Amino acid sequence: MSGRSRVGFCLSDKKRKRMNLAAFSEMCAGQGVQVVEMDLGQPLAPQGPFDIIVHKLSDVIVESEHDQQSRHLLANFQSYVSAHPGTILLDPLPAMTRLLDRFASYRIMSQLHNSLRDWRICSPPYLAIHSPGDMSSTQQAMAKQDLSFPLICKTRVAHGSLSHEMSLIFSAASLPDVHPPCVLQGFVSHGAVLHKVFVVGDRHFCVERPSLKNFPSGPCDRKTIFFNSHEVSKPESSSHLTALDEQMPCLPPPSSEAMAALVQELRVQLGMALFGVDVIIDIRTHTLTAIDINIFPGYEGVPQFFSSLLDHIKKVLDQRHSTGLRSDSEHGATGFQHNT
Ligand SMILES: Nc1ncnc2c1ncn2[C@@H]1O[C@H](COP(=O)(O)OP(=O)(O)O)[C@@H](O)[C@H]1O
Ligand SMILES: [Mg+2]
Repeated sequence: MSGRSRVGFCLSDKKRKRMNLAAFSEMCAGQGVQVVEMDLGQPLAPQGPFDIIVHKLSDVIVESEHDQQSRHLLANFQSYVSAHPGTILLDPLPAMTRLLDRFASYRIMSQLHNSLRDWRICSPPYLAIHSPGDMSSTQQAMAKQDLSFPLICKTRVAHGSLSHEMSLIFSAASLPDVHPPCVLQGFVSHGAVLHKVFVVGDRHFCVERPSLKNFPSGPCDRKTIFFNSHEVSKPESSSHLTALDEQMPCLPPPSSEAMAALVQELRVQLGMALFGVDVIIDIRTHTLTAIDINIFPGYEGVPQFFSSLLDHIKKVLDQRHSTGLRSDSEHGATGFQHNT
């Protein structure tokens, strides 16, 4: 890395505070990297030039589906990025947009067992329900997908407070509780332990969290359980849904080689550097099972997050330098006219 680099951060206020961007900026400043907090509501060109932009535009992307102002903000961002090909985006917008749609991210997860056959890694069977009309054929489709009760029902959109509202469906009689568009995913008993894997470039970190308790496989006449996933899998979560009903032998910890293989495969499939994957271990088969992929997650419980992110930023800049590509800020420094 040569000279002083400029890294733009484009985050919601909430994300900015949560990740403590001010502390990260200080760390970067000590190492010749200037962090610039971008304001999407203002023209972006005068805020640049940027060597890299790190962003989480999930709110804006989801809202742009129905909100004119968000559409405008997104278009503004996209046109800045297209006009500045020397600026590296962490991560690419299409890759992030894909993960905001559970229909798309579950398709990616469902292909993992092919590429990771040697590691016995899979994801639960699922069914995408597009509209209420699809419900009549649900049971036939379930049989085709080898999907059996209990099921966990999740919204199609994977971002925002509603996306954490889920339900556990125990029989066909409760299928009317499902509100499409949504996915029905096979529930896998996993001893109430969630393994959250956080990825930063070529490093990854595993953290354990509480998770849903075991439920017997097969249909039963239990009523649908509605819950918010924050009640069960945040570090501080404590709920009757995470307390096991029975004594259970401890499951073996996930193999670190298998986790590394999973992360590597997802890096390739997603083309992203900042993401997370939630993994559970099936209590019957001990198979590593991926249940969720997250965009630029919180990295809670990962004290190395800042240093890893800074290392990754420096590495990306170095790589660009060695390939001879010049960033927009270097164009500026050498008197090149900006494409603004
Ligand atoms: N297929 C599944 N089998 C068992 N438990 C699951 C399954 N899917 C999700 N869960 C539980 O529900 C929680 C939330 O699901 P997840 O898909 O990770 O949604 P979120 O986007 O809210 O994190 C998980 O942390 C886990 O405890
Ligand atoms: Mg999750």
